This record gives sequence, structure tokens and C-alpha cells, in this order.
Amino acid sequence: MSSALSIDPDAPIRRYLRLFAEGEESSVTHERIELSLGTKSASSSGRLNYEEGASVPRLPFRAPTAAELSCMLFESRPFSTSGAIGICRPPVETFEKLAAIGRSIRDRQCKLETEAYKVGIRDLVGWLSKRYVFEDKYIVHGFSVDEPAALTTTIGRTGRLVGLHLDTWEYHRLDERASALNRFCLNAGEQARYLLAFNLDLVEMHGLLRDLCRVCVSNVHDIGPEFMRRFPDYPVVKVKINPGEAYIAPTDFVIHDATSLGLESSGCSFTIRGRFLV
Ligand SMILES: [Fe+2]
Repeated sequence: MSSALSIDPDAPIRRYLRLFAEGEESSVTHERIELSLGTKSASSSGRLNYEEGASVPRLPFRAPTAAELSCMLFESRPFSTSGAIGICRPPVETFEKLAAIGRSIRDRQCKLETEAYKVGIRDLVGWLSKRYVFEDKYIVHGFSVDEPAALTTTIGRTGRLVGLHLDTWEYHRLDERASALNRFCLNAGEQARYLLAFNLDLVEMHGLLRDLCRVCVSNVHDIGPEFMRRFPDYPVVKVKINPGEAYIAPTDFVIHDATSLGLESSGCSFTIRGRFLV
């Protein structure tokens, strides 16, 4: 049995994972956001080869309504590590150092242990530590290159696309997930990138399955798939990240991916995990 569920101020949802864009009015922020029609099982075609059981957003993406937007944006900085998705913009000179290295990697001229790479990371970490609560514990994941024109972009160990998914870097248990490091991901390319994420964290999804469907999901990795199966019309949020901007998101605590639909050339991003306060 499934129930209708939508992004709505009257929906039985205790808390939404909202967006906050540093230095940006909400009237501007909403232009970054689109919603899918829901989710569906992935089907492989051509070079888009999905893992068994993968799920993807159901197209088309559309603009959110005013009521939906009221559930999706913070009006002021929330100071949260696990309850928000943040958009920020490092200094131009820091971005340009990293973007130049990203271009080298994308063009297969990779030399990572250069002085420029070390200086770029040092500058970025210095800026983050002043701007956000940033414990010494951080892990540099470095650059990654996304193929263009893909509904979702994350490739798993099998070499196939995983679809909408949960990261698992440190903790496995549901009650530990909100404490996991979150992800700072800079768009180091020359065109926009698009984050995909549910605006519900895993605990919220787990609670909705329990309360609305009378289902108790014991395996944390089954929560997202079960939620998408029971609520196929619940939308995935698509967030535009412009070149030079970064998102901060709790990717061990929320089902997510990225899309490169509509892009004609490869994108490039730079990732650090840490304890970032949106
Ligand atoms: Fe991920």
C-alpha cells in the first residue's frame, strides 16, 4: 500500500531539508530549483548502463510552486551540518587556481602533485575555516569529471551508474548518519552543474514509511529504495550550481546524485568532506 505525498506545508513531514544560498535573496535562490515528476526504475540505454535496481528522476523537471518553495528555502543562515544544503562561492582567485588544475585533469594532462594544487587546496581550506565551522578533520577527495548528457552521473564499483543513492563513508547506522562528515563540492568547470537530492533526510523518510505505510525498514540502504517505491510521485530537487559555486550537502544522510542532462561537454568538480556548517 502506498500513500500520496508531496512537498506541501500541510504534508505530515516534520522537517524539510532546505536550501540556503550565502548572500542571495530567496527570490534569486528559487531560480536555481526545479523538481522532477517523481522517480522511476532506471533503464539502461546506449552508454547509460545502470546497476540492477537503480532509480532515477522521472522527467520532465518543472518549476516549483510558491507553496513548494515555502518548504524548500531557509530565509536566514540555519547553521546546520545535516539539515541543510548550502550554496557558497569561494574567492575568485581560489576558484581559478583549482579550475586551471581541473581543466588539466579533464583534458588528460593530469599532474596532481604540483605546487599549484597544494596552494589551491591550502587557499580553499583557509577560506572554508574562516567562513564555516571547519574542524581539522577533513578529507580531500580531489577532482572528478562528469560525462555530459547523463540523467545521473555517479558510477559505482561495478563501472555502472548507481542512480539516486546514499554515500557511506563512515557510519552505517541510521541514528549515526546525521553526524557523518558532509560534502563541499565546487563546480570547477565552465558550465553549470546540477545537484539532485531529496529534500527529506533518511530519518524523515524512515518515519514517513513507518507512519504512512506501516513499514519498518531495518536496513539503512533499503530506506531510499523503499521510499521511492512507495512514493513514486515525490519529486527530486534539482539545484543549479554555477561555475565557481559550491554546494555543501549531507550526502551520507540524504539520497542524491547529479545530472548532466542538457550539457554538451564534460563537467569538473572538486570535493572535500569535512564538518561544514551551512
Ligand atoms: Fe554520492
